[in-house]
Amino acid sequence: MRKQIAAANWKMNCTLQQANDLLDGLIKENISISPDREVIVAVPFPYLMMAKEKLKNSIGFKVAAQNCYTKFSSAFTGEVSAAMLESIAVDYVIIGHSERREIFGEDNKMLAQKVDACLSNNLKPIFCCGEPLQIRENETQNEYVETQIKEGLFHLQSDKMENFVVAYEPIWAIGTGKTATAEQAQEMQQHIRNVFKEKYGEAIAQSISILYGGSVKASNAKEIFSKPDVDGGLVGGASLIVAEFASIIKSLK
Ligand code: PGA
Repeated sequence: MRKQIAAANWKMNCTLQQANDLLDGLIKENISISPDREVIVAVPFPYLMMAKEKLKNSIGFKVAAQNCYTKFSSAFTGEVSAAMLESIAVDYVIIGHSERREIFGEDNKMLAQKVDACLSNNLKPIFCCGEPLQIRENETQNEYVETQIKEGLFHLQSDKMENFVVAYEPIWAIGTGKTATAEQAQEMQQHIRNVFKEKYGEAIAQSISILYGGSVKASNAKEIFSKPDVDGGLVGGASLIVAEFASIIKSLK
C-alpha cells in the first residue's frame, strides 16, 4: 500500500532561530505517525543536519533537501551534490519544483539527470510537475504534465520506481491562495497514475505516492486528501506555521 505523505517545503525561509523553533514546535505536537504515513520536512541546506538531529527520535518524520546538482563532485562552486546529501543521511530531495524550473531554468533533461544523481546516492526524489496558467486555460495540461513525467522519469527501470514520490503542483495555485479544486487535483493525479501504468504496469502505478501541492492549508487539506489518487500534499506557506502544518498532517487519509 502506498504511503500517505505530508511534506513541508520551507523554500528560502527561516533564520537558524526560526528553523529551530519551527522544528521544536512540530516535535512538541507529538503527532504519532502510523507506518502507512510519512511526514517530510524540506528545509534549506544550512539546516539539514539540525533537522536530522532533532527529528531522529520522531518516528515517521523524514528530512528532505530542496535541490541537488547533477554531478557527484568537482568544480561547481555553489552547488550541493547528492553524494553530500547522502553523507548526512538526508532521505528525500525535491527535484524540479516549478520555482527551479521557472526561475533557474531547469529543464526536463537536467531534471532527469538530477533524478539519477539522487537514485544512485540512495536519496528518494520528490519529482514535481505541474502546468502554468496559460496551459490550463488552453486545456492542454494533461499533455504538458505527461511530457514532464516522460522526459524526467521514463528513462528509469521499473526497480527504480520504488519509494518514488511525485508532486503535482499547478503553478497557478502555488503561493497564490488559489487552490485547485479537489476534483481538479484528482483528475490530473489519476491521469498521472495512468501515465505510469501505461509504461510500468498497474502494480507500480498503484505503489507511487502522488502528492498535490499549491496553497494547501489546514482548511482545505482534508477535502483534497480525501480523493483516491491524492496521497497527501507538498505544502509551502502553511508549513511555516506549526498549528497549520500539524493540522495538515492530521488530515492525511
Ligand atoms: P504553497 O507552495 O503551499 O505556498 O502554495 C507549495 C509549493 O510550492 O511546494
